[in-house]
Amino acid sequence: MYVATFGCQMNEYDSDRMVRLLADHGFTQTGDVRQADLILLNTCSIREKAEQKVYSLLGRMRPLKESRPNLIIGVGGCVAQQHGERLLKQLPFVDLVLGTHAIHRLPELVEEISRTRRQICLTDFDYNLDPPPPLAGRPYRLKSFLTIMQGCDNYCSYCVVPYVRGREVSRPPAVILAEAEDLLESGVREITLLGQNVNSYGRGLEPRVTFVDLLEMVASRPGLERLRFTTSHPKDLSLELCRALADLGPLCEHVHLPVQSGSTRILKRMRRGYSRDEYLARVETLREACPEVSLSTDVIVGFPGETEADFQETMDLLTRIRFDGMYSFKYSDRPMTRAAGLEGKVDEQVKGRRLAELQAAQKEITLERNQALVGKRVQVLVEGLSRRYHEQLTGRTRTNKIVNFTGPEGLIGELVEPLILEAWANSLRGCWTETGSPVGPEDKRAGLIEAHESF
Ligand code: 5AD
Ligand code: SF4
Repeated sequence: MYVATFGCQMNEYDSDRMVRLLADHGFTQTGDVRQADLILLNTCSIREKAEQKVYSLLGRMRPLKESRPNLIIGVGGCVAQQHGERLLKQLPFVDLVLGTHAIHRLPELVEEISRTRRQICLTDFDYNLDPPPPLAGRPYRLKSFLTIMQGCDNYCSYCVVPYVRGREVSRPPAVILAEAEDLLESGVREITLLGQNVNSYGRGLEPRVTFVDLLEMVASRPGLERLRFTTSHPKDLSLELCRALADLGPLCEHVHLPVQSGSTRILKRMRRGYSRDEYLARVETLREACPEVSLSTDVIVGFPGETEADFQETMDLLTRIRFDGMYSFKYSDRPMTRAAGLEGKVDEQVKGRRLAELQAAQKEITLERNQALVGKRVQVLVEGLSRRYHEQLTGRTRTNKIVNFTGPEGLIGELVEPLILEAWANSLRGCWTETGSPVGPEDKRAGLIEAHESF
């Protein structure tokens, strides 16, 4: 089988689940699409561009199917959920449309297609929260995602997620903990908990469990070095969570807190549930509770009705907050969403100009924030060899910044503390010496330690 994943981390988790389910039914993975007897595209429809990518790739799959009629081609994820049967009609060489809630049925559907050669579309929402098959015996991995909730109830006016992922449902803590333990037993050392809005975790569960309760439970599992989570919704970010970031050992000091716009007027039209001032106040609380926290965000430019003055408010917010990182997007209409029907659509060229201006400003800020680490020792979990600089090791800081540095390959999988020598907007360059690593368990929390020596 060949599985291609588009879009968010949730899709990466889902793809992994597909691979594990199919592996239990005798499938093995190949990196060569021409070798595969089953091709699955796990798709994203969050923005128009993401969806176009899927269609262009599918177009390129047609000749493969024509030359090998027994090949099974499946489309999963948000595009599958959104288009359902229509996809099978438009693209007759596609065999399977697997909705976002149908992953657990994948093996039986594949089996049915190979038997009957009939197209299948399964896009019902059935809120199956079963864990994936255990990891035991699977190849070792250092980091893993763990989905703690599905769907979203927020209905931000630009967003297709509630329509393609369904209502918000939290997985029970016992199921999440069992999955976390399985990951840790298989050698995973860093877990990222996933949800569209993790701060509202636990709604509807009996007995009620909050996100911070869950973090405490997962953080106490032996073997866990690092715990992360994403995504946080600013309106639900609690003081307890801000405190937990400072207090819970393995919980890393990084919060992705999408602001989307710096203008209260636009935030209202986006139905985000907070104003510019409320967002600023949340960030202040967060930084007071955990001064070393790094903050990243998402911004949409050119939302319907966004004036130059609104955009300048977003620019101003960037310079006030000084995020460590930002993902930014041009607004695009998404089917079913309210914003698609709003007046005041912004010209594509204007969106392009605003995006470029925003990105240039953020790049400077990211660079300056990264440069503040030069001359310091920073805790890094070594993930492997750098893709770009093969002779270097690569890993991330607790604050989620990439560090490349020279050191022996034996350090892969270890926590070390290279000295930061140079910083760019996208990564840091460090230097490892015997004295600095590996880090003893008592130092793990230190994260950021002033350099003992100068270079
Ligand atoms: N147009 C542009 N960007 C969007 N996002 C979500 N929907 C849209 C849209 N219709 C962005 C938001 C969100 C990120 C995952 O994608 O910034 O946080
Ligand atoms: Fe979309 Fe808003 Fe839900 Fe995030 S919180 S998934 S932007 S509807």
